[in-house]
Amino acid sequence: MAAPSFAEPLIQHLTEDLDLSQDVLLRVLDLAAQAKRTPHRFSQALAGRYLALLFEKPSLRTRVTFELAIKQLGGDAVTSVGPVGEREPVKDVVRNLDRWTQGIVARVFSQETVKELAQWSHVPVINALSDLYHPCQALADMQTIRERLGRWEGLKLAFVGDGNNVAHSLMLTAGRLGMHVAVATPKGYEPKSHVIAAASRMGRISLSNDALEAVEGAHAVYTDVWASMGHEGEKDARQQSFPPYRVDEALMSKARPEAIFMHCLPAKRGEETTDAVMESARSVVFDQAENRLHAQKGLLLTLLG
Ligand code: CP
Ligand code: NVA
Repeated sequence: MAAPSFAEPLIQHLTEDLDLSQDVLLRVLDLAAQAKRTPHRFSQALAGRYLALLFEKPSLRTRVTFELAIKQLGGDAVTSVGPVGEREPVKDVVRNLDRWTQGIVARVFSQETVKELAQWSHVPVINALSDLYHPCQALADMQTIRERLGRWEGLKLAFVGDGNNVAHSLMLTAGRLGMHVAVATPKGYEPKSHVIAAASRMGRISLSNDALEAVEGAHAVYTDVWASMGHEGEKDARQQSFPPYRVDEALMSKARPEAIFMHCLPAKRGEETTDAVMESARSVVFDQAENRLHAQKGLLLTLLG
């Protein structure tokens, strides 16, 4: 009998993008495509399984698509909205939840909270957005790029705006899949240096403060809000620095003629992008939103299936 392998952790979590090895990442994305093509094949995959969804911050897409994905896979979900670790320590919260459920999905202010949940949990923990990462979004985005552009390898993805959680997850995921990720931010709003270092070890990443340079020759142009949840107090200061990074039709015209426009949503039209770009034929923002459902099915099938 073959010796047991300890290469993979006993419980696989997704607290940050790099928790998924390259093989597992590709498996999730292939399962996501299959779940989209033939959803009925997977309709009993989570039968009898229950997940807890915790939200410290607002959500439309993440909450609805996780609830639907779990139900469409034959399982069920309960959602709790409010702070995690305020009434009792995070390590106690999670040791209650893992007695009742088979998985925990958490949208939290601090990455430390999701790390602590995973540290104490006997069931898989999934990061549904933190201050540092949004890995479920990146999975849906990779699915969208492959559908729209046919591949990842050799394509240029420009991210223009705030070097935030969404930018971090794209750098760590798209870079590993062979995309050149060009990030342009105002000075002082660059991605975190530890994310730049990790992403650069695995893929081609370039950074600048020049939106035109990032977008030139891009196959996909991505932006996100200038002030993320938790940074609302910096809104006015950010309004001073960010206007040159607005993705409008003039900036889109510097990308490839066939370039797609991407945004995780919710979008603030007139700030990081315009109504014309959002509504243009190049915009794939609702494909991205749809694919949250399928990508998270791929993830749930991999972690719990
Ligand atoms: N893109 C995304 O995560 O949207 P929600 O904040 O609505 O979940
Ligand atoms: N960067 C944004 C993404 C929202 C889905 C935020 O954290 O608010």
